[in-house]
Amino acid sequence: MRTATARAHPNIALVKYWGKRDEELILPAAGSLSLTLDGFATTTTVSLDPSAAGDLFSLNGAEASPAQSERVTRFLDLVRSRAGSSSPAVVRSRNEAPTGAGLASSASGFAALAVAAATAYGLDLDRAELSRLARRGSGSATRSLVDGLSIWHAGDDDASSFAEPIDGPAMHMIIVTIDAAEKAVSSREAMRRTAATSPYYAGWVDSTAHSLREMTAACRAGDFTRVGEITELNALRMHAAIEACEPPIRYLRAGSVAVFDAVEQLRADGIEAFATADAGPNVVVISRPADSAAVAERLGGLGAVRVVGAGPGARLIPEE
Ligand code: DP6
Repeated sequence: MRTATARAHPNIALVKYWGKRDEELILPAAGSLSLTLDGFATTTTVSLDPSAAGDLFSLNGAEASPAQSERVTRFLDLVRSRAGSSSPAVVRSRNEAPTGAGLASSASGFAALAVAAATAYGLDLDRAELSRLARRGSGSATRSLVDGLSIWHAGDDDASSFAEPIDGPAMHMIIVTIDAAEKAVSSREAMRRTAATSPYYAGWVDSTAHSLREMTAACRAGDFTRVGEITELNALRMHAAIEACEPPIRYLRAGSVAVFDAVEQLRADGIEAFATADAGPNVVVISRPADSAAVAERLGGLGAVRVVGAGPGARLIPEE
C-alpha cells in the first residue's frame, strides 16, 4: 500500500476567476491572481488499497457526502489513468476552514489531493504539472500550488493553463467571517448561471483580462495602493455580474456590505485597506502588514476576524 500526505492552503483572489471556457478541462474564461494564505490548511492522506471495492473519502473524520465522494473519485480516475493503475484509494482529509463558507476550501482541498494522489500513485510531476492537475479538481486549486502571490494564466489549452509565482507588495489579509454556513448556490453552479444568463458576463470577462494586466504591473511595481484598488473594483464587478443572473444570486449580505462601508471609512481615516469577497457573505480585507492589527481592531465588531499572511503552496509532508 502506497501512502502520501500533503498540506495545502486556500488562496484568496485579488483578480477573480469566474467563468469557464471549457467545463471538462476547467479552462478559465480569463486569468486570475491570488494570495495563498498561511492559515486554514487542508491536510490530505491518500493510501492505495488495491483490495478495496472502491474509493473511500472522509472529511474531518466523517464519511463524505455522495456528491463529494464522486468528485474525488472522478479526480482520482484522472490520476489513475495517467499512472496506469486501477487501485482504489482511501482518502482522509482534514480541513481547518469551514467548508462551503467562501473561504475557498475546494482550492486547498484539490491542491492537497493533487500532490498526495500524484505521489501515492507514483507520478513524478513538476510544480506546473501539479498546478494543471489540481485545476481539474477545482479551478481555484490551480493557484494553491504556488507560494504567496500566484498568477493563473488562462492559457491556450490544458498544457498552458497553470499558475506560477509573481512578485508583489507585502500584504496581510483580514478575514471577516459573517456566516460560516454552507452557501446556498455553489460557485460551480453560480458560475454556469452567470455565463448563461447574466447580461454583464461578456463585460466581466473583458474587464477581468484588462484588470489582470493592470494588476500584474501593479504587483511588479510593488504598488500596494493600486493592487488594493484593482482588488476591490474586480470583486464588485464580479458580484455585479452574479447579481444580474436569472434567477439572481446574491452572496453579499447586509453584514458583508457593512464591512465594505467600514473599509471605505478606514481609507477616509488614512488607513489603506481594500475589500474583496468570494462566492459567499464573508469579506476579506487587504492591508499593508503594518496596518493589519489596526484594521482588525476596527472590523472586530462586524464578524469573527482573523489576520493571515502569505503562506506556502501545496507540499508533501512526512508521514507520522
Ligand atoms: C469566487 O474554484 O470553486 O472563489 O472551478 O467550479 O471548482 P470550480 O470553481 P471554484 O471557484 C472559485 C471562485 C471564486 C474566485 C476565485 O477564487 O478566483
